[in-house]
Amino acid sequence: MVLKKRSGHIGVLTSGGDTPGLNAAIRGIGKTAVSEGSFQVIGFKDGFRGLMENRSVRLDNQMLSGILTLGGTILGTSRDKPHKMPMGGKYVDMTDVIVENYHKNHLDALVCLGGGGTLKNAYRLAQNGLNVITLPKTIDNDIMGTDVTFGFDTALGIAVDAIDRLHSTASSHHRIIIVEIMGHRVGWLALGAGLAGGADAILIPEIPYTIDKLAESILERVSRGKRFSIVAVAEGAINRTGANKIRAIEKKMVEAEGEELDALKKQVKQLDQEYRGSTIQMAEELQQITRLETRVTILGHLQRGGTPSALDRLLATRLGTNTIDYIRNEQFGIMVAVDGERTKAVPMEEVVGRINYVPPDHPWVISARNLDTSFGD
Ligand code: F6P
Repeated sequence: MVLKKRSGHIGVLTSGGDTPGLNAAIRGIGKTAVSEGSFQVIGFKDGFRGLMENRSVRLDNQMLSGILTLGGTILGTSRDKPHKMPMGGKYVDMTDVIVENYHKNHLDALVCLGGGGTLKNAYRLAQNGLNVITLPKTIDNDIMGTDVTFGFDTALGIAVDAIDRLHSTASSHHRIIIVEIMGHRVGWLALGAGLAGGADAILIPEIPYTIDKLAESILERVSRGKRFSIVAVAEGAINRTGANKIRAIEKKMVEAEGEELDALKKQVKQLDQEYRGSTIQMAEELQQITRLETRVTILGHLQRGGTPSALDRLLATRLGTNTIDYIRNEQFGIMVAVDGERTKAVPMEEVVGRINYVPPDHPWVISARNLDTSFGD
């Protein structure tokens, strides 16, 4: 690798939901850049909003010290998009202001740490001529082009710990306990935690369930003398009726354009709201059918908080430190992705807007099925 660029200004921001490991990545980027003595690193506050409002902090050695083990992000985050910035009760396209501030700060590169939404926003900025690099962070692990995202391992550990704890109380009370795990569109977390925690049923968005099949699997356990069951359910799990309705609209969307497409997108959104995230209602139905006492635990943002796991610190650190090589080589418009023990540059246009769903025949699904874990299908 011929390393070219040796000085300049690097901007860093964190956008979208926070994730354990963000500070480790900021530290990796900052310390590597600063140690060369020639790069200055500027952190923008609260995602793209901070760049738009020019709110920043110099990431010097002092700022970068003692943050490796901290959860959250020292820079703050938001879900605000450059082209749809909430301003005084409406959405305004602030891309031009962001581009202007990029230049005002004499940035040579902007590193955006984020998930799928951040990737889309960063890609738009790259199309506006900015030198942008993204790093894949999300507890959902739903980004294409990378082996894994940082934050996933920590969240997985938290969810597994919760399932372990719920086992003893479910068993003592002979109850069904449903544990809702984050993941609105994808089920990696629920699947991984369910498998590692020994859940008896796992419901994920990619495999639509029916309440009858789920109840059947639990009653079958009862007939084998198992008086409790743990159900790991992704927040975006969906029953077959909802999934079929959405699929029918998505088929129409392929051909649709303009207003028709917008109307169809709206319909999908409404169905999403109606059919996803209905864990409490599902618990009531399950209790009625099985006549077994049923309780729900929603893990929610617990999964995003606290100290990053060792694996996430490692991952975030090596992605962060390697990012400086790409900047020095003036390789922009890329996501720095995990490729085994190495990192690789993935062109943003190859992965933007694409979602890394759980394939229904993924080895984790097959292992779970071999263990008689029900997917409610
Ligand atoms: O994308 C990460 C994630 O934690 C999802 O799993 C979840 O659906 C969403 O963010 C929650 O978002 P918010 O923190 O904005 O409520």
